[in-house]
Amino acid sequence: MSGARVHFETWLDAQRRAVDEALEAVVPAHREPAFVWEAMRYSLFAGGKRLRPLLALAAAEAVAERRGGAAAQAHALAMPCACALELIHTYSLVHDDLPAMDNDVLRRGRPTAHVVYGEGLAILVGDALLTEAFAHLAAEPRTVDGVDDAELARRRIAAIRLIADAAGPSGMVGGQAIDLRAAGGNAAPLNADGLRDMHARKTGALIRAAALSGASMAGADGALGSAIDEYAFHVGLAFQIVDDILDVEGASADLGKTAGKDVAAGKPTYPALYGLDASRRLAAECIDRSLAALEGAGLAGHLPALAGWVVGRHS
Ligand code: IPE
Ligand code: IPE
Ligand code: MG
Ligand code: MG
Ligand code: MG
Repeated sequence: MSGARVHFETWLDAQRRAVDEALEAVVPAHREPAFVWEAMRYSLFAGGKRLRPLLALAAAEAVAERRGGAAAQAHALAMPCACALELIHTYSLVHDDLPAMDNDVLRRGRPTAHVVYGEGLAILVGDALLTEAFAHLAAEPRTVDGVDDAELARRRIAAIRLIADAAGPSGMVGGQAIDLRAAGGNAAPLNADGLRDMHARKTGALIRAAALSGASMAGADGALGSAIDEYAFHVGLAFQIVDDILDVEGASADLGKTAGKDVAAGKPTYPALYGLDASRRLAAECIDRSLAALEGAGLAGHLPALAGWVVGRHS
């Protein structure tokens, strides 16, 4: 492995540990009612890749680097957004797997929440994770050395708005609704623009919000924010294209979720519309665009390696 690659892997390991430690404090064991918190923890601590938290932290670091700030301060500023995004993402997975949606029995290598706890509690686990995410965002970070309290409160409120918009009806929820309607056969088949739009909403919106909230918490101005947003838009689209490809090519044991479900359910996907080779090419083009957005703004850090990791992954 090259030195740069070792460096990136070391960073990934360290940040995943830091994120898991922070999540432990946000969703602790032994809170009442204990069975609710336990069910939330079951889905949250099941070995997710933590891409969205990693993007929030990497974007904050890259902005700090550009502005001459410290990485430790950037982390303190971005970690609450990182955690909130992982809670919201996990809620979206719990609901995505429900019988009324994708009806999946395997997630993150474990039986899905509704298989273990029943549908009613799985719905409530999703609600609970979503609500806790915003409770956390409203409260944290309370103080960060070197940032004025009023400025910090302003950034927190901006992050709440940004993340709510991404999670809501124009973002993730809207994309999931389009997916549901298209797979149900109650709508005209999606064309290329429709498919891209669905992917940008159901998956891209939270990925964008992760990078952008991390960047804004670290004090990104308009130009840096726009570059991060453009980077993350393309990373988000590439991520869902690769998810579609892995559904065709991957094995359930590697993915930790049931492979081959998209064709079986008649889902609109990139491989279904374009075939596998063209899908791979389109994902690679997205990554090229994401890197160009970074270069144009003089941003780097771990963001380019994270983009590469999104298309090179096997799970
Ligand atoms: C799966 O997301 C659902 C999509 C949005 C494609 P991830 O592949 O990031 O799932 P985890 O968090 O690693 O389990
Ligand atoms: C899900 O897309 C996107 C979400 C908002 C959860 P998929 O339905 O393709 O995700 P997987 O393949 O089940 O993880
Ligand atoms: Mg789905
Ligand atoms: Mg699914
Ligand atoms: Mg999928």
